[in-house]
Amino acid sequence: MEKYPGKKNTAVFISGRGSNLKSLIKHSKKKNSLIKIVLVISNNPDAEGLKYASNSKIKIYGNKNKSNFENKSLNLLKKYNIDLICLAGFMKILSGNFIKKFSKPILNIHPSLLPKYKGLNTHERAIKNMDRFAGASIHKVTEKLDSGKVILQKKVKILKSDNVRSLEKKVLKIEHEIYPKAVDKFLTNL
Ligand code: GRF
Repeated sequence: MEKYPGKKNTAVFISGRGSNLKSLIKHSKKKNSLIKIVLVISNNPDAEGLKYASNSKIKIYGNKNKSNFENKSLNLLKKYNIDLICLAGFMKILSGNFIKKFSKPILNIHPSLLPKYKGLNTHERAIKNMDRFAGASIHKVTEKLDSGKVILQKKVKILKSDNVRSLEKKVLKIEHEIYPKAVDKFLTNL
């Protein structure tokens, strides 16, 4: 019998440390979560997160070959009947062709209060602009970078004493909290 009946087969794409991956894996193991993580893919075969996934008995795939990364990944997504992709610290931009061919939802976590600060160096920009708040957003992935519908976001206060590192730490903490919530929220409203 299936261990988690009704859970959506999910693939997580990462590029490095994988702390958001860990929080998603932890969540997926709860009885009432709506996802089962069956595949972790990385454009960096040395990504730390891949080791964690493999130790958690999840299938992993690492490939830094730009030209066949997407096609090989699409084959695996099909093979493992993936219903949902969660990008978590995945630093490569997926092509429109990939998004179209996968044809199921893709979510991403971005360390800013979207639509503010799309792209890189979000904390640096928030501090430079003397913003009062920073935060994280989970959004749907479309062909336009960091521009799909926001599913959930949470703010944190930027203190005068904050620097990029301290802000990054604070935001990462809320990332771990909201990504699992956003995934279940998204799947519930599907
Ligand atoms: C996170 O801050 C994520 O929002 C950003 O990259 C970082 C990845 O961290 N895009 P991790 O690999 O999940 O630890």
